[in-house]
Amino acid sequence: MGGLVYHIAQGERMSVIKWRDSYNTGVAQFDQEHHKIIELIDSMYVALRDKLGSEVVEKVCREAITYTEVHFTNEEQAMSSISYPELEEHKVEHLRMKKEVEKFQTLITTNFTEGATGLYHFLRDWLINHILVCDKKYGPYLQEMKES
Ligand SMILES: [Fe+2]
Repeated sequence: MGGLVYHIAQGERMSVIKWRDSYNTGVAQFDQEHHKIIELIDSMYVALRDKLGSEVVEKVCREAITYTEVHFTNEEQAMSSISYPELEEHKVEHLRMKKEVEKFQTLITTNFTEGATGLYHFLRDWLINHILVCDKKYGPYLQEMKES
């Protein structure tokens, strides 16, 4: 998909993924959780770039995956509580993502660097695309719920 609105920062902090206001869904809890996931993905980048070793890389990968799963559950519960019309499609997207992550986890056991680097790229690109395409759609529904 072309024209995604994320950018790869160069220079200063060597941070490869940065929060942008266009990622806001308008739901404070989920924006905070997305921030945190982006930070964790950034830690994966740093661990790989600085060759911090497989133990550290594995630890940050695990943290990113675990936190993302908790976040998915939170989103699904909130969407379900307001009978969000696209809940099922959204759940399918989350499930597809988990399956992809499992493939990388398997690859990590045979080819560590390729698996971990692939996982990093996948998480980064998937997350930004998912926020912009799927998560932004629930914003108005969940905001309405809070107001009523
Ligand atoms: Fe989502």
